[in-house]
Amino acid sequence: MDLLDPAHYRGVRRPVAEAETLPAWCYTSPEFSAREVKRIFGAGWHFVGRADQVEAPGDYLTVDTVAGSLLLLRDRAGHVGAFANSCRHRGARLLDGHGHCRTIVCPYHSWTYGPDGALLGAPGMRDRPGFDGAEWGLTAVRCETWEGFVFVSLDPEGPGLLRHLGDLPDKLGGYDFGAMVCVRRLDYDVACNWKLLVENAMEEYHTGTVHHASLGQQSAVQAETRGHWDAIYIPQETSIAVLPGETAPFPHVPGLVGQPAHGTFFTVLHPATQFACTQDSMWWLRVLPLGPTRSRLEVGFCFPRTTVARSDFEVGVARYFHRWETGIAEDNAICEAQQAGLSSTLRRPGPFALREPAVHRVNNWVLDQVLDEPAGPRGLPVRRSPAGGRP
Ligand code: FES
Ligand SMILES: [Fe+2]
Repeated sequence: MDLLDPAHYRGVRRPVAEAETLPAWCYTSPEFSAREVKRIFGAGWHFVGRADQVEAPGDYLTVDTVAGSLLLLRDRAGHVGAFANSCRHRGARLLDGHGHCRTIVCPYHSWTYGPDGALLGAPGMRDRPGFDGAEWGLTAVRCETWEGFVFVSLDPEGPGLLRHLGDLPDKLGGYDFGAMVCVRRLDYDVACNWKLLVENAMEEYHTGTVHHASLGQQSAVQAETRGHWDAIYIPQETSIAVLPGETAPFPHVPGLVGQPAHGTFFTVLHPATQFACTQDSMWWLRVLPLGPTRSRLEVGFCFPRTTVARSDFEVGVARYFHRWETGIAEDNAICEAQQAGLSSTLRRPGPFALREPAVHRVNNWVLDQVLDEPAGPRGLPVRRSPAGGRP
C-alpha cells in the first residue's frame, strides 16, 4: 500500500466538524516518518536554543537535529553561528554538551577551529600540496536569531526566518523575549511520535482529565495566525505558570498590553517548537523525532532579566518549576499511552471534537508538507511556505 497516496487522507482533509484523525500509521510507520524528516525537518526553520545559552564569545552549545549534532557558537564579534559538530579532516565529533572555549581542538589529530568556524591550525598538513586552511572551516548551517531564539534551516535556499514566522513577531512581540533569559532546561526521552507531543499542546480538551489533580480544566479560544505557526489562547487574568490556588510571585512582563496581558498563548511554530507565553514568563518546548515512535522533548523556562535579578527569584521560581515539571510529566505519560494505543493493528481514525480544531490544523499542515497534492485541504487555508512552494 502507498502510505503517501492522498486518497488515504480525505477524512483528515474535511472541515473539522466532519474530519477524522490521521491514520495510525502516521505515528508508527518508518516510511511516513522518513518522508516527514525529509520534507518537514529537512526544510523550513527550526528552533535550536536560546542565544542567552551561548552568552559570551567562545560559548558553545551542542544541539541534536535530524541531520546530526550541530554546534551553536558565539564568535568574537558576538554573532551566533551554527556548524556541523564534525571535524573537516576525518569527521570526528568535536564537542559535547555546552561550555566555553577559546578554540576548538579536534580530539583526533588536533585540527583547531575558531568560534567563527574558521580553521586556525592543522598540524602536519603543510606537506600536502596546495592545502589551504581557508577552505576547511567547519561546515556552516543557515542560522538566524529572532528575539533571542536561535533557529537553523537545513535548506540553503528557502525563505528567511522572518518570512517563515509570518505575523508571529507582531502578535507575540510584546513579550519582549529578547530581554528574557532561559534559567533552566530539562530534556525528556518520550516513547511516542513527535506529533503527539505537539498535538497535545494544541488542545485543552484533555486538561480536565489528564491534569485534573494539578492544572485543572482550562478553556481555550482559537487564535488567528499567518505564517508557519498556530496558536490557542486561554483567557485568564493570572499567570498560568503556577498551579491553581497558588499566587504567582513575579510581576508581569514590563509593558505587556492587549491580549497577552489577559491570558496565555500556547503556540506551535511548525513543525515541532512550542512557545507557551503567559503574563510573567514563557517556556519553550522543542521536539526532535528519534524515529517513528520515540522523541526527545527539550524544555526551557524563561523570565525577564529584571525578574531573574530580584532577590526573591530563587525562592519564587520553585513554584513555577513545580508546576511545569508536574504538567510536562502528565502530558508525556498520556502521549506514551496514546502511542501504545495507536500501535494496535485494530486502530481506525477517530472523530475530532470541536474543541480540537488546532490539532486538526496541525495535522493538515503536516499533510500539506508530506503529500504530493495540487491543493490544500478543502475548506481549510493552504499553509505552505509563504513563497507558495513546498520546501
Ligand atoms: S578527525 Fe579531526 S583532526 Fe583528524
Ligand atoms: Fe496537557
